[in-house]
Amino acid sequence: MQNIKCVIAAGGLGTRLQNFRNNNSTKILFEVLNVPMINRQIQQLNSWGFENFVIITNPEYSALIREAVTKAFSNFNIEFAIQDEPKGISHALQQAENFVKNEKLFFVLGDNFFENNPLEGFNLNQFHSGAFIFTKMVDNPEEFGVAQMDQDGNVISIEEKPEMPKSNDAVVGAYMFDESVFEKISILQPSARGEYEITDLCNLYVNEKNCKNSSIDGWWIDAGTPERIIELEDKLA
Ligand code: G1P
Repeated sequence: MQNIKCVIAAGGLGTRLQNFRNNNSTKILFEVLNVPMINRQIQQLNSWGFENFVIITNPEYSALIREAVTKAFSNFNIEFAIQDEPKGISHALQQAENFVKNEKLFFVLGDNFFENNPLEGFNLNQFHSGAFIFTKMVDNPEEFGVAQMDQDGNVISIEEKPEMPKSNDAVVGAYMFDESVFEKISILQPSARGEYEITDLCNLYVNEKNCKNSSIDGWWIDAGTPERIIELEDKLA
């Protein structure tokens, strides 16, 4: 995986973590067992084999995030891009375009943590085109993107936080995309809540019948709330 660029979405303000343990900073700098979340994320990704990163930050915290990251990691190739306005996860990914030149990429939401490497067994040489998503069976699918698959693991639909989920397969915050990803983002329209949704991007691949899924093993935590942070710390301790 060393040669693949890994883009990390680190721009969310994390309003649900405000005031938790006196936090008044951005989620990605929140200290999880004394290590800023962004640095925990880079450690996780490096343990999966990544060494080339593009980190997307919001303007307000870009300097602080850059400082925390560069202080901790001098041996990796880390680039930074700013998402000027919070216009959604696909819009965050779009900010990496100048750093990713016509190559496949791995995209991770900075607050998503995993027991196991979802890419274990993923053969990059057999990934010629399309998108690859990863899912986990959950009891609360309505809180996530929800995917429906056919019997061969081809994704046939993804819905963002549906009221009536078609499955229990939550889409986790890790995605593999081919070289057409930025062209696809450029044709996205904002959703009802005014954001360029990651789900809509994946659905462009679904429409091309070129989106596959792999169901992950082990725990997965989307660490966006105090409860999930405590759970993550329990797992990591
Ligand atoms: C985002 C995505 C959603 C995905 C989730 C994974 O939701 O929009 O499709 O399932 O991340 O963590 P958010 O956590 O930003 O509400």
